[in-house]
Amino acid sequence: MTTGTTDHKIDRLVHLLAKNATVVVPGPKIAEEIGASRSTVWEWIEKLRALGVAIKGHPRRGYQLEKLPDVLVPSLVRAELPHAEIGHKIIHFFRTESTNSAALELDAQNGPHGTVVIAEEQTAGRGRLGRNWYSEKSSGIYASIVLRPPLSPAAAPILTLLAGVAVHHAVGSATGLEADIRWPNDVLVNGKKVCGILTEMKAEVDRLHMVVLGIGINVNHSSMPEELREIATSLALESGRSYSRLHVLAELLRSVEHYYHMLLREGHAAIVREWSAASSYAEGKQVRVKAGGNDYSGVTVGLDASGALKIRRDDGLQELLVTGEISELR
Ligand code: BTN
Repeated sequence: MTTGTTDHKIDRLVHLLAKNATVVVPGPKIAEEIGASRSTVWEWIEKLRALGVAIKGHPRRGYQLEKLPDVLVPSLVRAELPHAEIGHKIIHFFRTESTNSAALELDAQNGPHGTVVIAEEQTAGRGRLGRNWYSEKSSGIYASIVLRPPLSPAAAPILTLLAGVAVHHAVGSATGLEADIRWPNDVLVNGKKVCGILTEMKAEVDRLHMVVLGIGINVNHSSMPEELREIATSLALESGRSYSRLHVLAELLRSVEHYYHMLLREGHAAIVREWSAASSYAEGKQVRVKAGGNDYSGVTVGLDASGALKIRRDDGLQELLVTGEISELR
C-alpha cells in the first residue's frame, strides 16, 4: 500500500455501514468484521463524521448510517464501476499534498494502467502554469488517472484534450448543466471554470511510460474564495443543488474510458472532432492569448490534427498554439 493511503479497514467500515444502511450495526460486530479494536472503530467513525458522513450512534446498540455517504473510498467507487478498466484500482487518501504527485510516484506494478488516485482534500493541489488548485475538503473531486498508453510522447496533447472532452460529457450527463471547454481543457459552466486538468507524464524520447490526467472538479462548494469568485464556480453554485460526488466521479471515469478507447480505435481525428463539437472556443471566438512571453489578441480558427489551436491574430499573423492560455474577449 502507498504510504498514507486510507487504511483498507476504514474502507471496509464504510462499506459495511453502507451495506447495512438504515439498520444499527453493533460496535463489536463492526470491530470483529473488519479486524480492528472497538476504540479504533470509534476513532474512525469520528474521522468519517468530520468528513460529513452522517453516522448516528445509538448508546449500547451501535452505529447507523443516516444516509449513504459521499466519500470516495475504493469499495464504494468500485461498486459503481464493476467492470471498469479505468478505476479497477483505486488509491484513496483522506488528505494528501497532491494526487498528481502521488500518482507520479507509482511504478508499473503499484500503478498499472487505469489506476485512479483520489483525495478528499489536497494540501498542495497543483494547477497548470505553476498555479495552486483550491481543494476544499469533501466538496470537490480531486483525482489523478494513470494511463499507460501504447502511444508516443507526441500524443500527450491529444490526451489533454481527451480529458477535457470526458469531463465535459460527464458534467453534462451527471448534472444536466451545459458545459463548455476553453482550450486546452478548462471546463466552464456559465463562463466560469468548474474543472481544471493538469496532464503530466513520464516518458523517453519515443516511449510514454505513464500519463497522469489530474482532474479537479468543483462540485459542491457553497462559495468560492474571494480571489476566485470572478473566474471560478462550482456545479452546486450554478444549479442551486448539490450532487453525489460518487456519481459524478463514476460518470467521469466511464467517460474517460469511453474516449480513451475511441482514441485507440479511431485515432487523433476523433478526439479533435469531439473537442471541436463540444467547445465554443474552437472557431470564431475572439480571444486574448498569453503564450511564451507573448500577449496578443485574435480569433480562433480551429484545431490542427495534433490538437494545437490555430489563431488568426488581429495583426494578420497566423499562430499555432501548443501551450499557453487564452481568455475570451467580450
Ligand atoms: C488547472 O490549473 O486548471 C489544472 C488544475 C488541476 C487540479 C487537479 S486536482 C487533482 C490533481 N492533483 C493536483 O495536484 N492537480 C490536479
